[in-house]
Amino acid sequence: MITLSTVQFAPIFGDKDANILKIHEVIDSLHSNIIIFPELCTTGYFFLNNDEALAASDQFDSDVIGALQRKSTQRHQIYVIGFAESDEGKVYNSAALIMPNPALTSVYRKTHLFYKERFCFSEGNTGFFVVKSDEFDISIGVMICYDWRFPESSRTLALKGADLIVCPSNLVTDVWHIAMPARALENKVYLAVANRIGTENRGGEELQFKGESGIWGYNGKIMAKSGVDEESILTVEIDPALTRNKKFNEFNDIFADRRPDKYL
Ligand code: ACM
Repeated sequence: MITLSTVQFAPIFGDKDANILKIHEVIDSLHSNIIIFPELCTTGYFFLNNDEALAASDQFDSDVIGALQRKSTQRHQIYVIGFAESDEGKVYNSAALIMPNPALTSVYRKTHLFYKERFCFSEGNTGFFVVKSDEFDISIGVMICYDWRFPESSRTLALKGADLIVCPSNLVTDVWHIAMPARALENKVYLAVANRIGTENRGGEELQFKGESGIWGYNGKIMAKSGVDEESILTVEIDPALTRNKKFNEFNDIFADRRPDKYL
């Protein structure tokens, strides 16, 4: 069994120092094996253009990620942290998957850009991938927020062997509540959404982030859920090995029963 936490809070737009301090304080207070933070939680969300996002961004090999890497290695914890990532003049809406073994540390760049993100970020070019930790006997895949609306995201991660899909988010609707349990059930994986709370008002438009972070079991049942507008940390125990047999009765196996030649 391993312990998994989601962290729900309100990052402050434009105050990276305060947000990063908060992330470190939360980590220092938790003994969970895996800790998941929201999308773009080092910078805040509502950038108006590419220049702003680039100015706030960090490279994957920056001190911001380096300090978290050292903490991960010292504390034997896995962290998932949404951040604005610059690389070769582009900026991506990324999530760092920081593993105690630095050789496994990876970055996922959001594939499907939501709403005005298209004016700020480049489309992710990493694709969906899974990182396997022998230390914790778990395979983890990352998708970010609006990626949920494409069942291909979670299906790809599950087919690549994910036991756990983590979804750092800045969700501003409620419709995702319909889909998340289905994504867990249809893939027989654990699914953890770390959403943020609070509002951001930029360029005359206000976005309200809807909280209700949640962790779903591989049967689609909710294991833990945060409130709509409160700071909250959820912690559950999961057994990754239970996701690997894709049978759900004597005759049916959700992967073996697939008919890819009949699909688009
Ligand atoms: C979202 O993708 N931030 C809704």
